[in-house]
Amino acid sequence: MTDLFPKWTNKLPAALALGAAATGLFVVFVVYFWFSPRHTDVGYQPFQPIPYSHKLHAGDKGMDCRYCHRMVEEGPHATVPDTATCIGCHASLNGVKANATLAPLFAAWGNGETENKPIPWVKVHLLPEHAYFNHAVHVRANVGCASCHGPVDQMEIVRQVEPLSMGWCLECHRDPTSHIRPKGVPVTKMDWVADDQSRAAAKARLEWTGDTRPELNPPTHCSACHR
Ligand code: HEC
Ligand code: HEC
Ligand code: HEC
Ligand code: HEC
Ligand code: HEC
Repeated sequence: MTDLFPKWTNKLPAALALGAAATGLFVVFVVYFWFSPRHTDVGYQPFQPIPYSHKLHAGDKGMDCRYCHRMVEEGPHATVPDTATCIGCHASLNGVKANATLAPLFAAWGNGETENKPIPWVKVHLLPEHAYFNHAVHVRANVGCASCHGPVDQMEIVRQVEPLSMGWCLECHRDPTSHIRPKGVPVTKMDWVADDQSRAAAKARLEWTGDTRPELNPPTHCSACHR
C-alpha cells in the first residue's frame, strides 16, 4: 500500500477534515451574517426624540394612518408629519404648559420669535440608494401597510418587522395573492387576513387573459427596482 500512495496522502484525511470544518464555519458565518437581524435590520427599533406612540394614536384613538402619512397614496414616500400636524391637537390638549414628555414638541414649535423646526425623527425603514420603491403603486394595488410594516397600531415604538431585502420583495412579487385586498377593504385596516375568496379575486387581477395585460403586474426584472 505504501508504494501505491505517496507519503503525504497520510495527511489527506486530516486535511480534508480541516477543509470541511473551515467550509462549515464559512457557511455558518454567511448564514449568520445574511439572515441575522443585524444584516436584515429586522427588529431595528430606534428611540425617538419624543416618545410618540402609534398604539395610543392609531390603535386606541383610532387615527387614520393617512392623517399623518399624507403622501402614501400619491407619491413614492409615505412622509412623516411636520410639527404643525402634532400641534394641531396638542396646542389645545396641553396648552402652553406642556409636560416634560411633550417639551421637545413645543420647543420645536416656533412662538413667533423662534422659527418652527422639524422634529428630528430617526428613520426606521431604509432601502439603499440603488433600490427603487414607490408607496403609491403598492397602496393603489391594495397591498396593506401591515404586509410590509406589521401591526404598527400596536407598537409603542415602531420597529422593523420585515427584512426589506431583495428576496423579500421578490417573494411577494412572485405571488402576492395573500397580500392584495379586495376593493373596499382599506389598506389601513391593520388586522385583515387573506382568505380563499380574496386570494381567488387577487389571482384574477394578476392573470394574463390571452394577450391582455393583467390589471396588476408586479415586476421581477432587474431594471424595475434598479433604475
Ligand atoms: C398622529 C400621527 C401619526 C399617525 C396617525 C400614524 N403615524 Fe406613523 N409615524 C408618525 C411619526 C411622527 C413617525 C416618526 C416617529 C416614529 O417612528 O415613531 C411615524 C413613523 C411611522 C413608520 C416608520 C417610518 C420609518 O422611519 O421607517 C411607519 C412604518 C408608520 N409610521 C406607519 C404608520 C401606520 C401603518 C399608521 C396607521 C396604522 C400610522 N403610522 C399612523 C406619526 C403618525
Ligand atoms: C409593499 C411594501 C410596503 C407597503 C404596502 C407600505 N410600505 Fe411603508 N415602507 C416600505 C419600504 C420598503 C420603506 C422604506 C422606503 C425607503 O427607504 O425608500 C417604507 C417606508 C415607510 C415610511 C418612512 C417614510 C418613507 O416614505 O420612507 C413610512 C412613514 C411608511 N412606510 C408608512 C406606510 C404606511 C402608512 C403604509 C400604508 C398606507 C405603508 N407604509 C405601506 C414598504 C411598504
Ligand atoms: C388628532 C389629535 C392628535 C394628533 C394629531 C396628535 N396627538 Fe398626540 N395625543 C393625542 C391624544 C388625545 C393624546 C392622549 C392625551 C391624554 O391621554 O392625556 C395624545 C398623547 C400624546 C403623547 C403622550 C402625552 C403624555 O403626556 O404622556 C405624546 C408624547 C404625543 N401625543 C405626541 C404626539 C406627536 C409627536 C404628534 C405628532 C406626530 C401627535 N401627538 C399628534 C392626540 C393627538
Ligand atoms: C406584499 C407584497 C409586495 C411586497 C413585499 C413588495 N411589492 Fe412591489 N409590488 C407589489 C404588487 C402587487 C405590485 C403590482 C402593482 C401594479 O401592477 O399596479 C408591485 C409593483 C412594484 C413595482 C412596479 C411599479 C413601479 O413602482 O414601477 C416596483 C418597482 C416594486 N413593486 C418594487 C418593490 C420593492 C423594491 C420591494 C421591496 C422593498 C417591493 N416592491 C415589495 C407587491 C409587493
Ligand atoms: C422587486 C424589486 C427588485 C428586483 C426585481 C430586483 N432587485 Fe436587486 N435589490 C432589491 C432591493 C430592495 C435591494 C436591497 C436589498 C438590501 O438592502 O438588503 C437589492 C439589492 C441588489 C444588489 C445589491 C446586493 C447587496 O447586498 O446590496 C444587487 C447586486 C442586485 N440587487 C441585483 C439585482 C439583479 C441582477 C436583479 C435582476 C435579476 C435584481 N436585483 C432584481 C430589489 C430588487
